[in-house]
Amino acid sequence: MVVAAKMPEMGIGFQGKLPWRLSQEILTFKKITTTGNNAVIMGRKTWESIPKKFRPLPDRLNIVVSRSPPKEPIEGVKYCNDLDNLPSLIPENIDRVFMIGGSELFNYYFKSPLCKDIILTELHNDEPVELDTFLDWDLTTWELKSHEELEEFVGFEIPREFNEKGYKYKYSLYRR
Ligand SMILES: NC(=O)c1ccc[n+]([C@@H]2O[C@H](COP(=O)([O-])OP(=O)(O)OC[C@H]3O[C@@H](n4cnc5c(N)ncnc54)[C@H](OP(=O)(O)O)[C@@H]3O)[C@@H](O)[C@H]2O)c1
Repeated sequence: MVVAAKMPEMGIGFQGKLPWRLSQEILTFKKITTTGNNAVIMGRKTWESIPKKFRPLPDRLNIVVSRSPPKEPIEGVKYCNDLDNLPSLIPENIDRVFMIGGSELFNYYFKSPLCKDIILTELHNDEPVELDTFLDWDLTTWELKSHEELEEFVGFEIPREFNEKGYKYKYSLYRR
């Protein structure tokens, strides 16, 4: 499944980083992706955007997608150079596989039948936010599940609305 955070115009990044730094959003992302024995898949650019001291993301199998071999292999981190081979890299004891970005992987997976659920943080800010990386998604044919179904899916309660540093945001579960 996919976990992503976006602005109304579908922006998700700016200059190789997240446009925002919201502690509750980071905590909620961590809780969603660490509930269970899970894997997180990310593109090489997203991997490099995570400060070295915070990667690999703890308590999750990290898989980095790149067409080139890693510059410095890191113990416990798997590399994938062909997305068709990704399922063979997932051990049997993994409960959930989360695709966590960035745009190149999100846009690829959105079209894949393997992507059945999307947990989306939908952010809004009254002030303009600089964005240069966007999702190419049309969710109109996807089903928006209720907040209760979202909570059941993630396995814990999530506030209906967050308000942090000028951003208002909420979590939604979309199903193909
Ligand atoms: N808001 C959010 O939810 C969110 C989440 C994550 C990231 N982001 C943001 O998104 C931006 C990064 O996104 P991005 O699109 O530039 O980069 P990305 O998707 O993170 O990484 C792209 C790289 O992944 C590898 N790759 C992609 N498709 C591949 C394939 N089919 N086979 C093999 N390798 C493949 C390539 O690596 P090589 O070049 O090494 O071959 C490619 O250059 C940043 O601004 C980041 O902060 C936002």
